[in-house]
Amino acid sequence: MRYIPFGVNEAQVSEVVLGTMRIPQMSAAEVGELLETCLDEGINMVDTADIYGGGHCEELLGEAFVANPGLRDQVFLQTKCSIRFTEGGSYFDFSKDYIIEAVDASLKRLKTDHVESLLLHRPDVLMEPDEIAEAFDELHNAGKVLEFGVSNQNPMQMRRIARASKYPLAANQIQLSVAFAPAFEAMLNVNMENDPAVMRDGGIFEYCERKDMAIQAWSVFQHGYFAGTFLGAPEYEELNVKLDELAEKYGVTPGAVALAWILRYPAKMQAVIGTTKASRIRESARACDFTLERPEWYDLYKAVGRQLP
Ligand SMILES: NC(=O)c1ccc[n+]([C@@H]2O[C@H](COP(=O)([O-])OP(=O)(O)OC[C@H]3O[C@@H](n4cnc5c(N)ncnc54)[C@H](OP(=O)(O)O)[C@@H]3O)[C@@H](O)[C@H]2O)c1
Repeated sequence: MRYIPFGVNEAQVSEVVLGTMRIPQMSAAEVGELLETCLDEGINMVDTADIYGGGHCEELLGEAFVANPGLRDQVFLQTKCSIRFTEGGSYFDFSKDYIIEAVDASLKRLKTDHVESLLLHRPDVLMEPDEIAEAFDELHNAGKVLEFGVSNQNPMQMRRIARASKYPLAANQIQLSVAFAPAFEAMLNVNMENDPAVMRDGGIFEYCERKDMAIQAWSVFQHGYFAGTFLGAPEYEELNVKLDELAEKYGVTPGAVALAWILRYPAKMQAVIGTTKASRIRESARACDFTLERPEWYDLYKAVGRQLP
């Protein structure tokens, strides 16, 4: 496993992170085993959110911590807040009171008195950075949150929060996979008149690198917006052939190659994997055992029908 220093406290966190969005059907005992597998492989960071499974994913983690003494202290735990579901529909809420209320509810479900990291899940257009800063301050002073970050935010949004808050943002969690990489397409087609030249992210990668923030890729094996995995998918034949080839060369699985493609970007990269299987956790950890060569990275980039300028 490889590690990066995270946030102001510079805790060493693994580049491969376990995501828990897809665990609601599992038992707490199974979740405990999944976490133990992660630790065996050197994966020490776990990502969750208040909305996953309507709060049940945090509850399962909490139960697993209680059932396995010592487990909680070995895990760098990250949760998220801000997406609200009501009977009338959903919306996003970065208000001070709601952030604090959401964290308190998460801690209760997680059966812990703090989380190592809190991310604001999706941008709230109505956000007021001073209010966010006050919420961060209160949560930090109470020892409930050690590091703060964001998810799915562009650089201008991060700058607004960073200007108000005394806590430097530690991470931005955004969608990235070899089959979903609009940010890289824009980096490669600068000032061109073709579609890939459209910059949809506003330079998240460059901003995070400059601010020493971790970039946490989500849906690392998916294409589209929750459209399914590209691994073994017939519509991604060329990509799968390339992944298979490289998997054979490096003695790993195609999934590990797909993760190595993400981790190859030269910044503080993390890949959040969403598997519910111990075997896939072990296979994914191998992504840190090798580094893709530059031509291999570009071959994979092109293997989903993209072209270089
Ligand atoms: N910040 C955000 O807005 C945001 C949004 C979405 C997700 N996330 C975070 O990112 C984490 C990962 O997202 P994700 O779950 O979409 O990631 P993912 O790792 O791309 O997808 C996991 C899914 O792919 C399946 N899978 C993995 N390898 C496979 C293979 N070789 N063949 C077939 N299926 C395979 C898994 O099935 P098995 O369980 O059977 O292995 C699981 O259903 C989430 O848990 C969450 O923590 C954040």
